[in-house]
Amino acid sequence: MSWAPDSRVLDHCIERYIRANPNSARQLEWAARVMPGGNTRSVLFYEPFPLVMSAGKGCFLDDVDGHCYIDFLAEYTAALYGHSHPVITHALTKAMANGLNLSAHNELEARLATLIVERFGCIEQTRFTNSGTEANLLALAAAKAYTGREAIIAFNGGYHGGVLSFAGPATKMNVPHRMHMADYNDLCSVERLLAEHPGECAAILVEPMLGAGGCICAEDGFLEGLRALSQAYGALLIFDEVMTSRLAPGGLQEKLGVTPDLMTLGKYLGGGMPCGMLGGRRDIMAQFDPRQGSLSHAGTFNNNVLTMAAGIAGLEQVYTRAEAIRLNARGDLLRGQLNEVLAHMPMQFTGQGSVMNLHPTALPIRRPADSPTDRNSLRDLFFFHLLECGIYSARRGLLVLSLPLTERELTLLVTATQSFVDRYGGVLTAD
Ligand SMILES: Cc1ncc(COP(=O)(O)O)c(C=O)c1O
Repeated sequence: MSWAPDSRVLDHCIERYIRANPNSARQLEWAARVMPGGNTRSVLFYEPFPLVMSAGKGCFLDDVDGHCYIDFLAEYTAALYGHSHPVITHALTKAMANGLNLSAHNELEARLATLIVERFGCIEQTRFTNSGTEANLLALAAAKAYTGREAIIAFNGGYHGGVLSFAGPATKMNVPHRMHMADYNDLCSVERLLAEHPGECAAILVEPMLGAGGCICAEDGFLEGLRALSQAYGALLIFDEVMTSRLAPGGLQEKLGVTPDLMTLGKYLGGGMPCGMLGGRRDIMAQFDPRQGSLSHAGTFNNNVLTMAAGIAGLEQVYTRAEAIRLNARGDLLRGQLNEVLAHMPMQFTGQGSVMNLHPTALPIRRPADSPTDRNSLRDLFFFHLLECGIYSARRGLLVLSLPLTERELTLLVTATQSFVDRYGGVLTAD
């Protein structure tokens, strides 16, 4: 059984949203003439129409209707530094003045690679891509070439990019790898697949916390179990830390003490510029060494100087190990406060550190199937309520901390959550 507000409550909320945002609606209509649905990034769309932003500064966003929001989405974790952080802006300006697109190796790429190798314990060598999606495609190719095997084990509800998405039914958008799907936090389902397909599985691809799948944490022993199973069956273990690497100084692999063979990264590590990275064991990465390796990996912008410069500045000067610890401790505290406020509601936040997701249920959540999916009126109501309080988040319930947020903004979020409970707690009925 789930709980929902009276449908008129949500309808009224959406009517207020439509009235308050005529310019966003107009902009979307105009864009729809030349872009399907006015959209070029599916995740950004929601009914009746999404907000259009005009500017960002620090932890604030301005929309085209003149509203200012506290940004609690932080570009789905990529805007860790906030908007136009002075250190990042300075690095970008300097790189721009020095010439873009040098048609060659540059002096920055090995500096960023060194920072990555120093930061993430399992990475002996790394390569750059333009996105997290590409990094995962590269990881799967590397694992297949290294093992001489064809199949990949991934997890229902996992997300590894636009062409490696495992939430919901099979999609034509996915690349046609031979995939075997297991359940998150269920080692038996993984062992069954490995045993049913002996000598076939090149890799187990897993997020150490499901990100887009709802910020669902790995239970004690799950990742350790995957490590042991992958070794027993000769498959590589790949951690997709595109979203989770910000949750501890050396990524979740460091915090949880499990070392994968390969790791993928992205998001904030390019300082807000497009970025992806694959790294891991030297013997696996050696396949890409053009002096001796067998794998060619192309990409015009793989070593573009803007991403390299912004990435270096961010890691060296801003997101130090101490900052990573501080930000995630704040996130843990905030999640606790929000859950206290929601204690008598059929709602909860799950997650770790600076990344969390709202679920419209108070029952335990071990995997995506435990949480009501798609459109959920309670979660929708919370989203529109936060907008009315001047707080921008994702309609699916994702909340993310960025570095410029101060105690004031965190307190405003807790207060807005309390006002949601006060205003709507009494209008819930069993669905
Ligand atoms: C865990 C994970 N892997 C991969 C990706 C894809 O990264 P990108 O959007 O840079 O292609 C994402 C993006 O949200 C992600 O969360």
